[in-house]
Amino acid sequence: MEQNNRVTFGSKLGVILATVGCAVGLGNIWRFPYMVGSNGGAAFLLIYFLCILLLGLPVMLTEFYIGRHTQCNTAGAFKQIAPGTRWHLIGYNGVLASLFILGFYSVVAGWTLQYIFEAIGGGLDGKTAEDFKLGFEAFSTEIWLPIFWTLIFIALTHIVIISGVKGGIERTSKFMMPLLFVILIALCIRSVTLPGAMEGLIFLFKPDFSRIDSSVVLSAMGQAFFSLSIGMGCLITYASYFQKDTKLQRTALEVTLLDALVAILAGIMIFPAVFSFNIAPTAGPELVFITLPNVFQQLPWGNVWSAVFFILLAVAALTSTISLHEVPTAYVHEEYNIPRWKAALIVSFGVAVLAIISSLSFGVLKNMTIGGLIFFDFLDYLTAKIMLPLGGMLICIFVARRVDRKVLKAELTNQGTIPFHFFNTYVFFMRFVAPIAIGIIFLNELGVLQWIVRLFS
Ligand code: PFF
Repeated sequence: MEQNNRVTFGSKLGVILATVGCAVGLGNIWRFPYMVGSNGGAAFLLIYFLCILLLGLPVMLTEFYIGRHTQCNTAGAFKQIAPGTRWHLIGYNGVLASLFILGFYSVVAGWTLQYIFEAIGGGLDGKTAEDFKLGFEAFSTEIWLPIFWTLIFIALTHIVIISGVKGGIERTSKFMMPLLFVILIALCIRSVTLPGAMEGLIFLFKPDFSRIDSSVVLSAMGQAFFSLSIGMGCLITYASYFQKDTKLQRTALEVTLLDALVAILAGIMIFPAVFSFNIAPTAGPELVFITLPNVFQQLPWGNVWSAVFFILLAVAALTSTISLHEVPTAYVHEEYNIPRWKAALIVSFGVAVLAIISSLSFGVLKNMTIGGLIFFDFLDYLTAKIMLPLGGMLICIFVARRVDRKVLKAELTNQGTIPFHFFNTYVFFMRFVAPIAIGIIFLNELGVLQWIVRLFS
């Protein structure tokens, strides 16, 4: 193991950009807008904000504590804090969740490459709304092309990972994240200057409180956790590369706010355009692959806007797939003493197998279902709805039960050198509020709450 002389991110900016890169991804730009659209707009946004601040932030800080304190991969970290116990199973949950998320996430990431390629080659020119729909369906159910792009995406991720923490992850993030902000802002400006854009902004920002019900609250909480990459040790692994003088409270706050900012900007980019072209904001996951290119192609320089948008999506996805890949790579490398390049190869191979099955599950394998879900949806369901909430809840319970408050405070204040005015509030949220709230999401998503309500009604 290389815990003593452990590699770290080289600079403060590198820490922030790599961690923001981990959090910001398809979850912000692809999933967030359609969740807002199908959950009533601004009301969802409001609850989402409360969730990231009141629940997401404390859980993120707790993961930072575990990672930086132990300087270990996610499974090793639990073994170090609670040796001889089974708490490290939380780490295994995270390692598996990363592989499973990569198994479907890389497929969507691969699609973005196909769309970039088509936009640049002029292949999206002159298409009607119906053409976009049929085109997406034909492409996603095909055998070879989606697999080809998915494997290219996994290979890109692999190259960054074997280049190491500083030369690969940090350097890529430093270049990619500013690029992402520039593209996003350019697309926002284009969108809000379209005729009729105001209606989209009203949908996004003017809450209709009558839309808030338990399902909106629970969806917002789920989105917050997925988007912040919480509950699976990804942030434990990244924090293990933080330097001893990295300010954990400040980093958690900055990452949380920047992640939320990207989601808001994605909303500002999408809803005015959607309203301007009279498209239903409630369109589901296809919003990004069918609706948006259709919107862009109706503008002057349509191909350029489409290409820029899908480059944005690919960049956001890559910084997240890197972070997802790093979790099992660090685990295999450190726990089995295997060279990093070999560990990365094993992980990439495993991910490729899962991703190929996921990709085929839209077409030739669509009848191979698990619990009624195709393989792609099954991986999505298993991770987002079971493994992440369970992991997040257990991480909080673990620290609450196994870590002395003084040790916790010392790490979070860099041995008392920086103040932590809200320490008691943080502890209260980490011990009680977060695990209970996450537990409620978990039970609700499994349908247990509905079952209990029915039992008593
Ligand atoms: N937060 C990422 C997104 O919003 O796309 C997805 C993700 C990355 C989830 C890393 C979990 C993770 F560990």
